[in-house]
Amino acid sequence: MADETDSPTLVFIHGSGDGAYVWEPLTQALQARRPALKLLAVDLPGHGGRIGDPGPEQVSVRDYAEDAYAELKRQGIASAYLVGHSLGGAIALTLALDHADAVRGLIIVGSGARLRVLPTILAATLERPDEAAVEVVVMGYAAGHEADARQYATNRPPNAPGMLHRDLAACDVFDMMADIERIHQPTLVIVGQQDHLTPPKFAQYLADHLHNAQLTIIPDAGHYALREQPNTVADAISTWLAEQAGDTVA
Ligand code: COA
Repeated sequence: MADETDSPTLVFIHGSGDGAYVWEPLTQALQARRPALKLLAVDLPGHGGRIGDPGPEQVSVRDYAEDAYAELKRQGIASAYLVGHSLGGAIALTLALDHADAVRGLIIVGSGARLRVLPTILAATLERPDEAAVEVVVMGYAAGHEADARQYATNRPPNAPGMLHRDLAACDVFDMMADIERIHQPTLVIVGQQDHLTPPKFAQYLADHLHNAQLTIIPDAGHYALREQPNTVADAISTWLAEQAGDTVA
């Protein structure tokens, strides 16, 4: 259909402890390059605009995937490119398997097929959640970007209590290593060269095992490449989308 080819919908799913707002620099950069794209950044339960709707204390990546799928249905979106960061990437990969018809393609940023979490991080998010929330973001930015990391982490809108720990606990048991080869949608895998939380090795695994994947490594960026280098990431997505549509114009 012309509409789907020329102006596809991109649905953005945030990572642990974040919210839809994490995408703002990237969605602005993308919209400037491709004004016809329809962009929708969702909040998971208890995050950002859904602070009053935290849902159950324990959730799995699959629970979150079902919540995101319900949002697609609510918005009347039959099929979209899913853009997922970290936990959001795990959610997008899960949706590509569980609701394949709803997923036209994937853009996976700083994520992986398995997302074990350092026990010290899990413990810190339980025992001293406010400090740990800042520390995790600082770990997630590349060397030299610490001021930006602190600025972002301390100014982002609040989530319901306990969200970061709940999100990371869901990541810790997420494991799709054996299932990745069953995903057939075209996929762009993006990772910051200095991503220490989901290292380039994880992205390389996705690129090697997915049927139709392309890997882009972003220099001078870490786990938050989407905020650290939004223009470079937007260029990569824009070029890849043009290739999917068979365009010659990036
Ligand atoms: N893609 C490809 N390879 C992966 C992978 C992925 N998504 N996840 C794990 N692996 C690899 C590891 O690199 C490791 O390979 P190796 O044996 O060659 O070293 C192997 O699979 C086993 O890894 P894992 O299951 O993670 O267990 P572990 O005990 O080796 O390491 C951690 C556990 C937590 C130390 C490690 O996963 C880590 O450093 N994670 C990143 C830090 C973090 O907490 N990130 C937050 C993610 S949201």
